[in-house]
Amino acid sequence: MTFRARHLLGIEPLAPEEIRTVLDLADRYVELNRRTVKHADALEGMTQINMFFEASTRTQASFELAGKRLGADVMNMAVAQSSVKKGETLIDTALTLNAMHPDLLVVRHPNSGAVNLLAEKVNCAVLNAGDGRHEHPTQALLDALTIRRAKGRIHRLTVAICGDIAHSRVARSNLILLGKMENRVRLIGPPTLMPPGVAEFGCEVFDDMSEGLKGADVVMMLRLQKERMDGGFIPSEREYYHRFGLDAEKLAHAAPDAIVMHPGPMNRGVEIDGTLADDINRSVIQEQVEMGVAVRMAAMDLLARNLRAERGRALTGGADV
Ligand code: NCD
Repeated sequence: MTFRARHLLGIEPLAPEEIRTVLDLADRYVELNRRTVKHADALEGMTQINMFFEASTRTQASFELAGKRLGADVMNMAVAQSSVKKGETLIDTALTLNAMHPDLLVVRHPNSGAVNLLAEKVNCAVLNAGDGRHEHPTQALLDALTIRRAKGRIHRLTVAICGDIAHSRVARSNLILLGKMENRVRLIGPPTLMPPGVAEFGCEVFDDMSEGLKGADVVMMLRLQKERMDGGFIPSEREYYHRFGLDAEKLAHAAPDAIVMHPGPMNRGVEIDGTLADDINRSVIQEQVEMGVAVRMAAMDLLARNLRAERGRALTGGADV
């Protein structure tokens, strides 16, 4: 089992075998989560604090469940009612919480890089639950697990990531992960929603769904991130749906057994047709949510093992015991 990381800040620093380690352990947690009694003790006695400075349903709920199922004491910081509203900086908030000796800190923040900065100031393991447009590593890992379980592998697949790529940390983490695992990634969307320098990731770029989806094994749709747009990126939502919204007709260009994914929250009728999103023969959107809990359990379990080992070494003056 290989997993060396001290924090989970992004997919970028992970080696392919570390990604495989998370997915393999997560597969075991999927089994546990399907039982009536869902308890394991990997985080027994540990304290997990969730700090979400941006709205979240799935990610926060699944981090909370994941921690509780592994026996941690989980605290959700109510950011809206906290001193953050009185102007306390992120670092001051983090240092205050750090003094309470958490073992795992789960952080979502609207600024890219904020979570990395915070990780330098605290003594515990930090998990990035999404920072600005930068990374959302557990989302990419849960997507990889969903794909691996549906397709039997997570290499040599053609994956189309469609829509608002420019504002999406999900797209960024996914294309890094899929590239590391030797898949072919295509990005499809209007040129106004493509990030600059996209070519350096080594993926093909399309602005036409019928061309870009041709033969794709996986079709990953993204939400139009209106909260991150400061100008008119698209002519209208109706026009956007017409050209880039996924429906059965556009999906017919992909491989006959292609799966449809979406990280949620969905704008039905904007980036995806509601009936297709609910079609259990094509859509794996609910499986993604299920895999989210298992992947977060696996990630926290692995980080906790490294944390224990590190603290053990500190106690014995550096020698491994
Ligand atoms: C995503 C996020 O917050 O980055 N959602 C999620 O975590 N499931 C995607 C989004 O907000 O569109």
